[in-house]
Amino acid sequence: MKLAASFATLVALVPFAAAQSPVWGQCGGIGWTGPTTCAAGSTCTVSNPYYSQCLPGSSAPPPPSSSPSSPTSSSPGSSPTGPATKLNAAAVAAGKKYFGSATDNNELSDTAYVNILKDGQQFGQITPANSMKWDATEPNRGQFTFTGGDQIANFAKANGQLLRGHNCVWYNQLPGWVTNSGFNSSTLSSVVSTHCGTVVGHYKGQAYAWDVINEAFNDDGTWRSDVFYNTLGQAFVPTAFQAARAADPDAKLYINDYNIEGPGAKANAVSNLVSTLKAQGVPIDGIGVQAHLIVGQLPNLAQQLASFGSLGVEVAITELDIRTTLPASSATLQQQQRDYQTVIAACKGVAGCVGVTVWDYTDKYSWVPNTFSGQGAACPWDQNLQPKPAVQGILNGWA
Ligand code: G3I
Repeated sequence: MKLAASFATLVALVPFAAAQSPVWGQCGGIGWTGPTTCAAGSTCTVSNPYYSQCLPGSSAPPPPSSSPSSPTSSSPGSSPTGPATKLNAAAVAAGKKYFGSATDNNELSDTAYVNILKDGQQFGQITPANSMKWDATEPNRGQFTFTGGDQIANFAKANGQLLRGHNCVWYNQLPGWVTNSGFNSSTLSSVVSTHCGTVVGHYKGQAYAWDVINEAFNDDGTWRSDVFYNTLGQAFVPTAFQAARAADPDAKLYINDYNIEGPGAKANAVSNLVSTLKAQGVPIDGIGVQAHLIVGQLPNLAQQLASFGSLGVEVAITELDIRTTLPASSATLQQQQRDYQTVIAACKGVAGCVGVTVWDYTDKYSWVPNTFSGQGAACPWDQNLQPKPAVQGILNGWA
């Protein structure tokens, strides 16, 4: 009887519809009246009672094993993988699409690292830290190589994890043939369009989202002086977005930047550009807030994420880490726990914020010490793959 009643309720909540949802499309949830079956190669997966989504593959991460509001451990460090409640499970229970991590190809031969990364309840989304960038994917004009990117895309697929493509157009990690050829505007426009179209097209149907434009602004809100802006002015932006949309109509297309986590000139520049692009009908779906932050020095993320969300685009925290001076003291790690909690709670509190990605989950593979001498300990897991207090901070933020 009870089973029949539940089934009847479910049927009432999710009416039958003949059409299929595309990959990444909604396929169910309370109040949903659209299609409830998915395009071939994807499976309708419950994210929360209000949202089911067609995820690529035939299986997806199982639902959370316990309530995020009552973590079973308050002392991370007691097990190699941390508290029993896991980070992606907690994010999904909070109504978000994912909690994820960046990774890199060389890290995938580290078995202990992979054993944590592949857990879909811990990480529901993966971003390649380097292998989809321009120097990796088109090292010579018209010669595309996807070996590294494919390895990470396949890893995500095998583990039922969403993929964020990173990135199409960035001033950094560019091959010399782009920066040094002296292309005129017409040729460079074609080069940008071909690159974005080919790379995004290669992963068609596999990427939840793409960082189409990365780090286009200076901190004062002026345009960055690089080969794209200096040759094409702002026109490289719509060119890239249009090529990406044509190549994969279902991928969410983002502009991504750092130092836009709180109000300021750079955040305003991104807001103004997004408003202009939307008014012009340029296909842009999201703002990526990188969030390379410093312990004890958080900007007002809650205010800025809400402001970005009010533009009618989705928002994601795309590269979160919170660094400190080394060695990190116990007091610093406690403050870092509070800071991680604050960042996650800011995303949780903004309807348009779809998820959070850490820029690798472990200090073992963090980019920070290579760039900021004497700083590090920025990730939620330490050098030895042991969870830090930050893991509990993330859980507290989603609760
Ligand atoms: O591939 C070469 C390898 O052949 C060589 O032996 C080795 C020697 O140093 O360098 C390797 O390249 C390194 C590459 O990472 C791959 O490991 C580069 O030196 C190194 O500079 C590069 O750093 C990456 C950085 O972007 C480049 O700007 C980091 O791993 C990556 O995490 C970082 O990611 C960026 C995001 O894309 C954008 N936002 C900021 C973020 C952090 O800087």
